[in-house]
Amino acid sequence: MTTLTTQLLRSDEVAQAAQMLQAGQLVAFPTETVYGLGANAKNGEAVAAIYAAKGRPSFNPLIVHVPSLAQAEKLAVFDDDARALADAFWPGPLSLVLPLKDGHGLSSLVTAGLDTVAIRVPAQPLARELLAQAGCPVAAPSANPSGQISPTTAAHVTAGLSGRIDAVIDGGPCTVGVESTIVATNPVRLLRPGGLPVEALEAAVGHALDHDLNPSTPSAPGQLTSHYAPNAAVVLNQLKGALMLGFGSVDGQLNLSASADLREAAANLFAMLRQMDALAKGQDKGEGEGQIHVAPIPMAGLGLAINDRLSRAAAPRSN
Ligand code: TXA
Ligand code: MG
Repeated sequence: MTTLTTQLLRSDEVAQAAQMLQAGQLVAFPTETVYGLGANAKNGEAVAAIYAAKGRPSFNPLIVHVPSLAQAEKLAVFDDDARALADAFWPGPLSLVLPLKDGHGLSSLVTAGLDTVAIRVPAQPLARELLAQAGCPVAAPSANPSGQISPTTAAHVTAGLSGRIDAVIDGGPCTVGVESTIVATNPVRLLRPGGLPVEALEAAVGHALDHDLNPSTPSAPGQLTSHYAPNAAVVLNQLKGALMLGFGSVDGQLNLSASADLREAAANLFAMLRQMDALAKGQDKGEGEGQIHVAPIPMAGLGLAINDRLSRAAAPRSN
């Protein structure tokens, strides 16, 4: 593909970013979870360009970002559960998979031809401003080359996608640090653990949700394949190692959270995986070629999402 000049926009250049999205260009932007690679979700060519820029092998359905529940209701049908979840958790790190509404106008590439759509109203102020000014629904997967670590800073985005996208707007580091929790309704069920803890969802719906508590078997369908992967191999649930990513009292070169705070650990996860990868690269390639050992992370709250992402990072690589 042709090389683009990727503009780095400041946080006060939202109007320009919004115009670029409207015009069908690819603009990466911050949300509270991770940076998204945005395109006008009604423009099929713009959405196709997302897949090309990321090098995504297949057309997975994408999450559509809107500034409000009112805008979301133009695209999808909300039942009582969906409205209750939206009222409780939007704006925030929750995506809802709902039936498409007649006249939605979305490109069928966004939904990969399904009759449902994943929608989210992000809380990050710059994202909200951008979506409001763009005036179109914005499809956005994480702004990284397919299979690699999700970006939580603008610098992470340019490291992976410079020359392949039109712009990135810099809103500083993401505060949540893992992707949104994805929930389908009728009945309510968890499709992907994420930045909204499952316990909060369960409290809102008033019953337990089906989810797999075993971190070695990720719960989202068809996604046992390698994902979120650094270059170095990743080994989970370790108490020591030459190259150690710690948690709590299990320390290492870096520690996701010395105080064992899962929120802090989620916010640090992807940036620290990148830093560990850089350390692994600098290591002597003699002994066991820079494996990243990761401390055990408890399976509660954001620990579900952290373990899910880590188990994908540790999964066998296809290449
Ligand atoms: O935090 C996030 O969710 C980030 C930021 C940028 O918003 N976005 C993100 O998008 O993680 P993406 O494209 O990486 O995740 C999309 C996932 C798909 O892998 C799929 O599992 C699920 O959302 N999905 C989307 N549409 C769906 C549908 N109609 N039915 C079931 N799952 C769907
Ligand atoms: Mg992703």
